[in-house]
Amino acid sequence: MTNTTSFDIKNLALAEQGHDRIEWALREMPVLRSLTERFGKNRPLQGIRMSGCLHITTETANLARTLKAAGADIVLCASNPLSTQDDVAAALVERYEIPVYAIRGVTTAEYYQHIHAALDHRPVLTMDDGADLVSEIHKSRTDLVSNMLGGTEETTTGVIRLRAMAQAEALKFPIVAVNDALTKHLFDNRYGTGQSALDGVIRATNILLAGKTFTVVGYGWCGRGIAMRAKGMGAHVVVTEVDPLRALEATMDGYPVMPLRDAAMQSDFIITATGDRHVVDKEHMEVMKDGCVLANSGHFNVEINIPALEAMAVRKHRPRASVDEYTLADGRRLCLLAEGRLVNLAAAEGHPSAVMDMSFANQVLCAVYLATRDHKLDNRVHKVPEEIDQEIAQLKLKAMNIEIDTLSAEQVRYLSSWQEGT
Ligand SMILES: NC(=O)c1ccc[n+]([C@@H]2O[C@H](COP(=O)([O-])OP(=O)(O)OC[C@H]3O[C@@H](n4cnc5c(N)ncnc54)[C@H](O)[C@@H]3O)[C@@H](O)[C@H]2O)c1
Repeated sequence: MTNTTSFDIKNLALAEQGHDRIEWALREMPVLRSLTERFGKNRPLQGIRMSGCLHITTETANLARTLKAAGADIVLCASNPLSTQDDVAAALVERYEIPVYAIRGVTTAEYYQHIHAALDHRPVLTMDDGADLVSEIHKSRTDLVSNMLGGTEETTTGVIRLRAMAQAEALKFPIVAVNDALTKHLFDNRYGTGQSALDGVIRATNILLAGKTFTVVGYGWCGRGIAMRAKGMGAHVVVTEVDPLRALEATMDGYPVMPLRDAAMQSDFIITATGDRHVVDKEHMEVMKDGCVLANSGHFNVEINIPALEAMAVRKHRPRASVDEYTLADGRRLCLLAEGRLVNLAAAEGHPSAVMDMSFANQVLCAVYLATRDHKLDNRVHKVPEEIDQEIAQLKLKAMNIEIDTLSAEQVRYLSSWQEGT
């Protein structure tokens, strides 16, 4: 039984199941394993109080274990009310003695109570996925600011919020934008979201994708991955965008690109991945086909205008666990998955461990970077140091038994010279 006295989770009896799944995930996380071994020896985070606001998944559990092995005194809360895996929360508390404040399906008020419980730990380092910890510290826990060494941010939406804070000169401690590391967004956002968002849609509906029209709203890192995988499953993928470069890229990648109003009329599935608000709105719902499935893979549940859908509906019914079917006055039925929250985490298990291995290796190395510096960074959003990206790519290749060539001395000279030409 645990020595951890303060926590709020659903049921400690789920710990064994959570433990088995956490160990299973670890098999696909060789980079994190190597960091656990290295930092378990020199413990660079010894005594550092950390609070992490992350999706409570098997991969996050392994991240927390690595941080603890490195010496950190860490507590966790959830970064989304619907993404917590209750068995993982139980195992973290009982088997690994890491306090967790997270229960799947909490209300918004309870969600924020959990964030404040994690802040009561008085962290000097924060680890966010969506910037809720940093935002709450700045709004109502300013007493914590003076001791803060900094924070890390996992996702695009969080980085956007934090850059806006820095721009307004409101940010009171430094942040490292883990999302912007190449070993994060090129793999996690693209291949991770690509696979897991489809996993969520399929688990929620069990509808065949082959032959269906599948619209992806937003052709960023996540959207590219979702489009690529949906195409691979035989769907007719349509892309909608507001950025001309991304629209052009989608066109040359072979997808029809059109305004969402046109796409909405023909779509069997519409999935958002924009980080933006109300991208699927009333005007689109008015023209959707009967049975159209709506899902979101962006960070917040604001991408689909759910209040508008609620107002248009004459009946709401839940035919399956993660499906809300709204019947409109004209008889059309629109099916919203996972209450518009990130479908890959709310209706499936989130990203596969192999990609989270790299994202979370960035988190660990950036935490060590913030905690072991001689001088505190200034109060803005910083890039992940290039050496960290390079190191993670090398460790991942090594773990995959893939060797690559190295530059010869002559090539190094040539590539750094401006005098040599034809
Ligand atoms: N589900 C997950 O596990 C997961 C993983 C990583 C990131 N995310 C989240 O997914 C979202 C997207 O992340 P990303 O890294 O792909 O961002 P990105 O900035 O690379 O891409 C977003 C794209 O959406 C487009 N867009 C914005 N408003 C639009 C609109 N009204 N209509 C059509 N397109 C629009 C932008 O032009 C951009 O190309 C963010 O909220 C991010 O935090 C989720």
